[in-house]
Parts: sequence; structure tokens; C-alpha cells
Amino acid sequence: MLPDTNYDSFAEAYSTENESSLINAFYERPAVLDLVGDARNRRILDAGCGSGPLTKALGSRGAIMTGFDASKEMIRLARQRLGDEADLLVADLGQPLPFEDDSFDDVVASLVFHYLPDWVSPLKEIRRVLRPGGRLIMSVNHPLLYPLTNPGKGYFNLTKYSDEHSFNGQRGTLTYWHRPLHAMTDAFSKAGFQIETISEPPYSSDAPAGIIPPQFKDRDSFLSFIFFALRAQ
Ligand SMILES: C[S@@+](CC[C@H](N)C(=O)[O-])C[C@H]1O[C@@H](n2cnc3c(N)ncnc32)[C@H](O)[C@@H]1O
Repeated sequence: MLPDTNYDSFAEAYSTENESSLINAFYERPAVLDLVGDARNRRILDAGCGSGPLTKALGSRGAIMTGFDASKEMIRLARQRLGDEADLLVADLGQPLPFEDDSFDDVVASLVFHYLPDWVSPLKEIRRVLRPGGRLIMSVNHPLLYPLTNPGKGYFNLTKYSDEHSFNGQRGTLTYWHRPLHAMTDAFSKAGFQIETISEPPYSSDAPAGIIPPQFKDRDSFLSFIFFALRAQ
């Protein structure tokens, strides 16, 4: 089943925004790169790679990169960015993945799992394409985000919701699935992953002061996403 949110219609605007935004360039991406650590000579799959900023960053650190995304337009932009530096294809994380068993040392999945109603089947697919003992490093909307931004709504149920965003001046609607923390960790166990790290990092110290909204200036933790490093058992 294709995702409810189709990035094709705002791919270029999203990609431009993502390049230098606080949330992506100075918070999400550095946090994932920290969890990956030494990427040299590792075969890494970027699941939901978008226009490929993380694919590029990992490739520059010496990883052998493959990326896929459900959006054709995102993959066109990723090809523009990466040329032959990575294998790139259109594929749906909600379907069987077009890779052999044991193809990758690590999988990274930045901000994509919150579009999926079911996590267990995609996680099992990722485990299949990982070598035994390989890692999945993922970021998703923090489970507190939905109840905090929608007062009065429940925390405990799997719930579909939509938010309006502006990407480089263009409006776009993102439709997500909220799930509580225990539903995330249950899905990891069911799919054969063990949690190594749960991270709730602050934004990077090199974020330009001018892009930090006043309400976040004094915070040492930026509540928006949660990050997991998981080990395939
Ligand atoms: C928030 S963007 C993040 C892009 C990229 N990971 C990054 O951090 O720059 C989410 C991406 O997930 C992709 N996506 C959403 N649902 C997907 C699915 N079921 N399979 C593959 N990609 C999906 C979207 O097309 C979009 O490019």
C-alpha cells in the first residue's frame, strides 16, 4: 500500500528546506550520523532516502550506499545529487524489498516509519536484508509529539493524523501514524531486533543562532523525534 503522504507534489521544496533547516540539518541528520559512527566500507541501505542528503553524507564518510524511496520525484532529485555514487530506486517500505538476504551491514531509516500503519512486516523485511548482527538506525516522530500538539487526544492508540507544513514557502500536508512507545518496542521485538540505544538528543551545537526559534533557545533537548539503534538478532 502506497503511503498517504505523497512527497512528489512538494519534493523540490521539501528537499531545499531539509538542506539547511534546524530540524533536519542541525538536529535529525547529525543525530543519525552519530548513531551510525564509523561508516567506512559499510554497505548501508537508506530506506526512505528522500532526495538523498543522508545517503550523500554517509557516502562521503566511506559507506557503500543504496537508497530507496516511494516518491519518484524524490528519487529523481536523489539521482541528481548523487549520480553514480549510490544505487537508487523507487520502492515501498510497506512491501517486500527488492534486495537479497544479508545485503547490508546497516540500514538507516530517517523520518519514514511514522508514515506506516504496520511496523512489524517492514521491520522483518529490513532484518531479512541485513546481515546477521547488522543494525537498523531509525528516527521517527517522538511518541509524545501527537498528544502534546493535539491536546485532549489519547496517547495509547494507533492513530492516523495530518499536519500542515510549509516547505521553503510551499504548503504540504503530511499524514502520519501516531503510536505509543510500547507499540514501537513491541514491533522491534516481534521482528527480531534488540534495542541498543534510545536517543533524545539536543540540536547540534553548531546550529546557527538565527535559525533557532526563541522557545527552543534555552532547551538542551529538542523534543520532536526519537532515535533508535537496533541490532538484528
Ligand atoms: C521526511 S522525508 C525524509 C527523507 C530522508 N530520509 C531525509 O531524512 O532527508 C520522508 C520520506 O519518506 C518517504 N516515504 C514515505 N513513505 C514511504 C514508504 N512507504 N516507502 C518508502 N518511502 C516512503 C517519502 O517519500 C519521503 O521522501
